[in-house]
Amino acid sequence: MYKILDELAKRREKARLGGGQERIDAQHKRGKLTARERIDLLLDADSFEEYDMFVEHDCNEFGMGDKKIPGDGVVTGWGTVNGRPIYIFAKDFTVFGGSLSKAHSKKINKVQDMALRNGVPIIGILDAGGARIQEGVDALGGYAEVFQRNVLASGVIPQITIIMGPCAGGDVYSPALTDFIFMVRGTSYMFVTGPDVVKTVTNEEVTAEILGGAKVHTTKSSVADGAYDNDVEALTDLRRLIDFLPLSNKAGVPVRKSHDAPTRMEMSLDTLVPQNPNLPYDIKEAIYKVADEGEFFEIQKDFAGNIVVGFGRMEGRTVGFVANQPMVLAGVLDSDSSRKAARFIRFCDCFDIPIITFVDVPGFLPGTAQEYGGLIKHGAKLLFAYAEATVPKITIITRKAYGGAYDVMASKHLRGDVNYAWPTAEIAVMGAKGAVEIIFRQSAGNEKEIEKQTKKYEARFLNPFVAAERGYIDDVIQPHNTRARITRALTILRGKQLENPWKKHDNIPL
Ligand code: HXC
Repeated sequence: MYKILDELAKRREKARLGGGQERIDAQHKRGKLTARERIDLLLDADSFEEYDMFVEHDCNEFGMGDKKIPGDGVVTGWGTVNGRPIYIFAKDFTVFGGSLSKAHSKKINKVQDMALRNGVPIIGILDAGGARIQEGVDALGGYAEVFQRNVLASGVIPQITIIMGPCAGGDVYSPALTDFIFMVRGTSYMFVTGPDVVKTVTNEEVTAEILGGAKVHTTKSSVADGAYDNDVEALTDLRRLIDFLPLSNKAGVPVRKSHDAPTRMEMSLDTLVPQNPNLPYDIKEAIYKVADEGEFFEIQKDFAGNIVVGFGRMEGRTVGFVANQPMVLAGVLDSDSSRKAARFIRFCDCFDIPIITFVDVPGFLPGTAQEYGGLIKHGAKLLFAYAEATVPKITIITRKAYGGAYDVMASKHLRGDVNYAWPTAEIAVMGAKGAVEIIFRQSAGNEKEIEKQTKKYEARFLNPFVAAERGYIDDVIQPHNTRARITRALTILRGKQLENPWKKHDNIPL
């Protein structure tokens, strides 16, 4: 018996070493942790249950028959984060560069299937060179098996990816099918084809950083949702994000004890909006001051800053915040901000997370660049996302709600449940100047007349009361009471029941 136990211990030790000490040292030298160190940091202490640590590949091509390493380049299993379960797979770059073989893909498939069956989120930690080249079509098929499961799990359980090394080929497509992607600055890259292939095919010389580094994907492509300076910071913050997320689409939002009074008044909100309507202010201040304990987990904070999205809590329950940001491009809606917010709203709707929207938007951004870039289609994504969402939707117009953007931003007409306005709200087809220039075109050049009509337009339309008189706004509220009004609305909306007509699926303008 003892001999067998010794044998087991030896086998485990070998598997834990992955590609060997030399490769582990090389990993550390590059500023990266190993797959197992990453899992240890992400999960609660001693909570990891590992599966398939003795799995090996069965490829004999190109001398692979002699190169078998237990685990085959991916560590899989489940554990807990602050007591709540998650499934996990972490690619081990020290074993064949974390590349995916048939055996490796089956290990991932197993935890994907279990996560879906048991209604538990799944986290992938990627540091890998794509398909195991020696395995050919077996590796390609293996990826497709992972992709298929990613798609079936989409909207059923949260799927999150952290990119912690150079990722290519299939190791970027699977992440792209998940809900959130995070990267590490300086050590992680994502590209379909790496710099060498780019040079061969297009003759373009480009570094990995410029082709697919964290900066590119969080500021330009918007493929990634956030970036961190190192592995430890990324994993620690991921624990924070997991705390906000429901386990599945049937589990409801997590509830934690809140020490923040639901009726807390925030007098400074009364002066947040400047008297001059053309001056900016930081809408994040409203979010921080309304959310429980001022906690806000922002998604895509380095991309399309004219809209702010992220998670917070109200009375201990997760909510999604969406807010136009007057500090960036006056909070205008453009293609990027529309896509960013639409995706976030759809995530919230999948997982029963109520949406709180702060509106201060001068409209959609005009111009050829936007129109040629498909503003109509991208703006429609946001409109579609709000209109199809059946979760509780609470809207607060803080200042401008002009034109189509008024309609789009969770208006009453798109089944907004509770729509409030601050007294500073201006709900109109457009700003006074633009409106008067169109209506009184014949008075062009007559400054006195234009000024008189502008003042008249401002007095008549640039307020919340025309909308309130029609019931499009449920109440004009005092800004300092915003938290209390939202928490009361959320309480009454907990029993909300709303279903869209049966359909196989919708056809959102992609
Ligand atoms: C087998 C691989 C491998 C792969 C890396 N290795 N990628 N082995 N298949 N795909 C091995 C290397 O041979 C090396 O082994 C070890 O992993 C470390 O790799 P290095 O190249 O030394 O590391 P580094 O310089 O950091 O470069 C990392 C890398 C590079 C950028 C990922 O290895 C690379 O470009 N790999 C190939 C990427 C790729 O084209 N993959 C196929 C994509 S197609 P030794 O023994 O020397 O340590 C694809 C199809 C699916 O994925 C598409 C679905 C849509």
